[in-house]
Amino acid sequence: MGRAWHELQGYYDGVAHGFDLRTAFAQDPQRFDNFSLQAPHVFADLSKNLLDNVTTALLAALCAERGVEARRDAMFAGEPINHTEGRAVKHWLLRSPRHAGNPDSLAVHDTLDAMLAYAEQVRADPAITDIVNIGIGGSDLGPQMAVLALEAFRLPGKRFHFVSNVDGHEIDAVLQGLQPQNTLFLIASKTFTTLETMTNARTANRWFVQNGGDDIARHFAALTTNVQGAAELGITTTFGFWDWVGGRYSMWSAIGLPVAIAIGEHNFRELLAGAHDMDRHFREAPLASNLPMQLGLLDVWYRNFHRFASRSIAPYHSALKRLPAYLQQLEMESNGKGVDSDGKPLAFDTSPVVWGEPGTNGQHAYFQMLHQGPERIPVELIAVRKPAHDLAQHHELLLANALAQAQALMQGKPDADGHRNFTGNRPSTFLLLDELTPRSLGALIALYEHRVFTSGAVWGINSFDQWGVELGKVLAQDIAPRLASGDTTGLDSSTAGLLSKLRRSS
Ligand code: F6P
Repeated sequence: MGRAWHELQGYYDGVAHGFDLRTAFAQDPQRFDNFSLQAPHVFADLSKNLLDNVTTALLAALCAERGVEARRDAMFAGEPINHTEGRAVKHWLLRSPRHAGNPDSLAVHDTLDAMLAYAEQVRADPAITDIVNIGIGGSDLGPQMAVLALEAFRLPGKRFHFVSNVDGHEIDAVLQGLQPQNTLFLIASKTFTTLETMTNARTANRWFVQNGGDDIARHFAALTTNVQGAAELGITTTFGFWDWVGGRYSMWSAIGLPVAIAIGEHNFRELLAGAHDMDRHFREAPLASNLPMQLGLLDVWYRNFHRFASRSIAPYHSALKRLPAYLQQLEMESNGKGVDSDGKPLAFDTSPVVWGEPGTNGQHAYFQMLHQGPERIPVELIAVRKPAHDLAQHHELLLANALAQAQALMQGKPDADGHRNFTGNRPSTFLLLDELTPRSLGALIALYEHRVFTSGAVWGINSFDQWGVELGKVLAQDIAPRLASGDTTGLDSSTAGLLSKLRRSS
């Protein structure tokens, strides 16, 4: 590693490992102002983090040393920074205004216009009461998270279902409540080859025909880069996107169609605009006030110097209940890598484990560990000032709990009885939206995308491939026919033994 990394290590070993939040607040009455940032639609209080001015300056030096800004600029210039797949990384273009001189931008906007017109048509069609999105990973988590998050903006009279798992229990339960003439299936798959999605799509198709459905063009649409693959399944209504959109970065593309149907054209454009606001902030704000960069650098500080292995996400808004799952893919599929962009093993850790549940529910489940477990786990609280309901007392209690948890983690409470002792000095970040709207949600998600970009760039990894998911897929293809035939030749004794047991119980 370079000089800035070694200086950070030296500062951590000599001084920063003993940093105490209580002392920092006592010494600096302006700490809240000094360590908080306003980005578009998202305010961030970083003051309850294990940060001081020296650390911040050293992290800035690391950022320069690792060429993060140059890498960011290469992404926005459309360079093929996903070099293991030979692709540019341009999800940001999906939310940029139409640019007459850029053919990709024109294609994006033509597709967007067509998709939004279709969304409006579905919204206006009283016969369609149920929309079933069949997709997995990035073709499921983003739309599912956003449809839930924006429930206050959702059109009444339509139900949304998300089928992702190849586990037949999932699609079976969904299909049981549906009528073909009232159902629209959206088959969402970037590649249109994913085993789970293709299996579920065929099952949906069969169910549709067997139950008297006869107009596939009206009741099935495909969201994919592989229009040919969709046609082979008999689907003629397709909305395309491009190989320069990574699966986990695709909710802004045609993959967002369920969101567009749920919230309508105007609101979907607002979602894109919010993300674009954050893109501009990421591109233009100086490092010291650049929120995605500061959060990405903080993640490196915690992962590589404090050696924190995980980060807990606590959205204090029940509509954000799928946000932790969405962030798991975004962060861990992007940065869960052990080699640098040249394929050489890294000498340090990368993505933390990202996990969480909405507050206050998490408080009554695992917050015990956050307060008193032997390991420190940074917590990220996300709160929304204005609720979408008028139950003022509920909201006051919700926000009070968010504030109290961050305070308790930081302050602790000494007690001679070890069981009752709270060590405190446990870091948290507090993200605050004024209101949960399409625009602020767009900004929040883009903030996370660029934060992941930043830590990935410091680590020098390719955040945009996902080779680690391939081996299991290949092995499953070998094992599936063995479950039918019982052939265990060449398998290790554990796999063979389990396979035999599973067959016996069938
Ligand atoms: O297996 C991982 C993955 O490729 C993810 O990256 C992706 O989001 C998901 O599968 C679904 O892929 P697709 O949209 O091509 O069906």
